[in-house]
Amino acid sequence: MTAPASTICCPVCGHITDPADPYPFRCPRAGTDDADHLLTRVLDTAVVRFPPAPTPVSNPAAPVSDMNPFLLYRTLMHSYHVATARGLSDGAYRDLVASLDAAVAAVDGHGFRATPFFRSPGLSDALGFDPKGGVWVKDETGNVSGSHKGRHLMGVLIHLAVMERCGLTDPASRPDLAIASCGNAALAAAVVARAGGWRLTVFVPPDAQASVVHQLHDLGAKVIACPREPGTPGDPAYLTLRRELDLGALPFTTQGPENGLAIEGGLTLGYELVTDLAGEPLDHLIVQVGGGALASSTIQALREAVDLGALGRLPAIQTVQTTGAHPLERAYQRVRALLPDDPAPEAIRKIMAEAAQHRSAFMQPWPREPASVATGILDDETYDWRAVVEGMLTTGGRPLVVSEDSLTQAHRLAVARTGIPVDPTGSSGLAGLLELRRSGQVGDRDRVAVLFTGLQRGTP
Ligand SMILES: Cc1ncc(COP(=O)(O)O)c(C=O)c1O
Repeated sequence: MTAPASTICCPVCGHITDPADPYPFRCPRAGTDDADHLLTRVLDTAVVRFPPAPTPVSNPAAPVSDMNPFLLYRTLMHSYHVATARGLSDGAYRDLVASLDAAVAAVDGHGFRATPFFRSPGLSDALGFDPKGGVWVKDETGNVSGSHKGRHLMGVLIHLAVMERCGLTDPASRPDLAIASCGNAALAAAVVARAGGWRLTVFVPPDAQASVVHQLHDLGAKVIACPREPGTPGDPAYLTLRRELDLGALPFTTQGPENGLAIEGGLTLGYELVTDLAGEPLDHLIVQVGGGALASSTIQALREAVDLGALGRLPAIQTVQTTGAHPLERAYQRVRALLPDDPAPEAIRKIMAEAAQHRSAFMQPWPREPASVATGILDDETYDWRAVVEGMLTTGGRPLVVSEDSLTQAHRLAVARTGIPVDPTGSSGLAGLLELRRSGQVGDRDRVAVLFTGLQRGTP
């Protein structure tokens, strides 16, 4: 057996997982101290290459199988590296992914395909951009189950299937999968778990939307309501999930600290951006942040593309949270206060390494139950905060805290100017852009991307 072309390790404590470990999800030292343990997939950049564009990735005439991001970018995935190191052929891996994708399509109507990415003339004009600059939109509303979340979970499902195929786990004695969510992540998990034939438990707050709970039941998930525990800070569904995971369930979550491999599936969104940009970098990327996996995985994907020579430079990473809850902004300010005005990359790395050893000094559960029209980004904690804070610091981006008025204005504008049925969480990155335009921090000729991440379900 050859060595896989990637490793899964915890950069905080140095733990490296055994490639034969079928569940390299959570650092074994997580929870034993105050350090921010997180398993991360690290590529051997001397071995892998960024896959060339097939034909323009969003060209509907391109061969369908090549447009599935889990096929297109398979050579960057840890499950591919483990499978091929154990003798599975490229063709056998492709067949496995294609059959799982067909199962997703049977549940959800379609499988995973590279989503559209385009310059929006309507938004660019409305925001006063020069024709040389403008607003680019990555539209995830047509993705599996109506958001980007399925990407994180499909990556994990493929990994689980590869482990069974390689004989490292027994398909006859599968543990249950578990997630804490009452929104897009839960729906995506239910679709993907059902496609793979896995049992899933979803922990939700007692006030979870009845229509979502219904859909989860219809998709075969077991749903358990978790009331808030008086005097206990933090999301009660997440706290219950933690207990379940300690009892042996597998984390089918979109939070990196629980399942580092969930970040890997999310990389496909950033890889698609790189392919579609075709070497012309963006000046700013604006990402809405809840638990932080979306931003963390997009930053990692772009950084890997730079390391592999597929992208010239990183854009400034700007993040968006609401006035209702902004734990990421608070953590950023705490780190920023320890740095000089114009910090060198080495100084940022050093402070981030120190912050990683003392998580609770930087990231704490938001003290009040938050409310916002952007319900998908109200997480009590930004679980994947560290990669996102570092991404902002190293690229000159900032954490934006946007008002409800801005969120509503951005949502109206997004729907009116693009015709995309995006929800207010999905268009919240645009609220950040409105504020950056008002303050003059984004210029007329800047190239800016926003991610329309969620489909409007029901009436807004
Ligand atoms: C539509 C949508 N966009 C963005 C996010 C934020 O993603 P993350 O929690 O990974 O930060 C969510 C999270 O639920 C979401 O549902």
